[in-house]
Amino acid sequence: MRFVLDGEVHDLTGIDPTMTVLELLRYRLRRTGTKEGCAEGDCGACTVLIGALAGNAVVWRAVNACILFVPMLDGKALLTVESLGGSHQVQHEMVERHGSQCGFCTPGIVMSLVGRSMGALGTQGLPVADVIAGNLCRCTGYGPILAAGEAVPMTPRDDGATIAALRAIARTEPLALSYADPLSGTTRLGFVARTEGQLAALLVDHPDARLVAGATDVGLWVTKQHRVLPTVIFIGDVADLRGIEETDAGLRLGAGVRYSEAWPALARLHPALGELVRRIGGTQVRNSGTIGGNIANGSPIGDMPPALIALGAELTLRCGDAGRTLPLEDFFLAYGRQDRRPGEFVESVFVPRPASGALIRVDKLSKRFDSDISAVCGAFALRIEEGRVAGARIAFGGMAGTPQRARACETALIGRRWNEATVEAAVAALADDYRPLTDVRGSAGYRRDVAGNLLRRLWLEQAGEPISVLALAGG
Ligand code: FAD
Ligand code: FES
Ligand code: FES
Repeated sequence: MRFVLDGEVHDLTGIDPTMTVLELLRYRLRRTGTKEGCAEGDCGACTVLIGALAGNAVVWRAVNACILFVPMLDGKALLTVESLGGSHQVQHEMVERHGSQCGFCTPGIVMSLVGRSMGALGTQGLPVADVIAGNLCRCTGYGPILAAGEAVPMTPRDDGATIAALRAIARTEPLALSYADPLSGTTRLGFVARTEGQLAALLVDHPDARLVAGATDVGLWVTKQHRVLPTVIFIGDVADLRGIEETDAGLRLGAGVRYSEAWPALARLHPALGELVRRIGGTQVRNSGTIGGNIANGSPIGDMPPALIALGAELTLRCGDAGRTLPLEDFFLAYGRQDRRPGEFVESVFVPRPASGALIRVDKLSKRFDSDISAVCGAFALRIEEGRVAGARIAFGGMAGTPQRARACETALIGRRWNEATVEAAVAALADDYRPLTDVRGSAGYRRDVAGNLLRRLWLEQAGEPISVLALAGG
């Protein structure tokens, strides 16, 4: 596989398809400026910038090298802290404003701030604090770091040479890697698909292959669980899966669209979706993770499914030349089990445009505001007509083994007067919908209480009584 690092093309053979970019940098290329803090995408110490050709420009994005697999760099450009040569204005401001103490987080923070100064993906219009929400510093305190970021003006990069180098290594054929693993004694395979047709054909030939889109879930299986993946197919470069189509009817997102790319269109569909995306991971996670991956992963605490289910989203799957479409809620069968047949992949998700005047709210409750997974995520889409509930779709994450609709709660609302008594009856009905578990993110009792309180809050706010979640949760 080939990529461009500081203007030079690197051509690698014999690569383990699940070697991380961080391992490549530190152990093969001896670029040890990029640090390993957590190896799970949480701390940002390993932040690097990768650039992909888009027409006559390069789109740069900050990503976590610790959970990015090396084949995902094929055909791309890479910038590490060494690429800056110690003379970037961000580095100067970090020194002048005392933005570093032990220095462990510093290369990652510098790369995030450099990305912002270049106008990289997922940074435009965001305050510095949001841009570096995925970079943790345990000793300096964020004041000086934020000041350093704010002092640096936007300075677009001259990408002329990078564009020429990327054109020279671009390929249209799938990349196929074969790796003789000395530990397991087996041969492991990796493929990078470029088109949906290539992907469909590869999956028919290798129905047991693990698909990898942004690797923000799969990366941790390798770095934390030490799972061996015999065959992987990387789909992040499949152009046909990266479409964003906004029509009067709604929004269609290809399964490979990253959060940062989908963010503006989702926010236009409804501001509640924009705010939800802002709370997903940090910039680096949003720059890699896909909505298709969030759905296909089937986690009970994935944030997008409850919101998309409440809005009536439909999922399209494809196997070979055959496609099928189903309501998103029907995709989640049980914990760890989805309605995905061998050889099938998620192609796109369609989210209908909400009716004007619909009452829509999505609430994510997590221990930390930024960069944290939900304990509970509640999504509500109600239609109130002449004082009665004419329609209700409610879904929760974190309350069951899958993201799941609250059908008993909906039934208790539909056709009734939209008043406090109805809301209390609907809150009580949630007990028929869910038997939540206790885990590290919250107790069963906490989950039951806040789920009901989120519905109460929707009612109170709509009735003109703003109230904070903390008050409702007894915090
Ligand atoms: P991958 O890791 O590439 O794949 C995930 C699963 O989906 C795999 O089983 C893969 O085979 C399958 N898959 C991917 N694409 C397809 C397809 N097209 N067809 C069929 N199967 C497919 N999630 C949240 O919901 N909220 C958060 O706030 C959040 N914060 C996070 C913070 C950190 C630090 C990290 C590391 C992760 C976080 N996540 C969060 C989880 C993760 O980012 C999301 O689930 C993300 O959407 C996964 O997308 P991906 O493209 O990276 O999936
Ligand atoms: Fe912590 Fe990569 S090492 S995010
Ligand atoms: Fe020590 Fe940030 S300077 S972790």
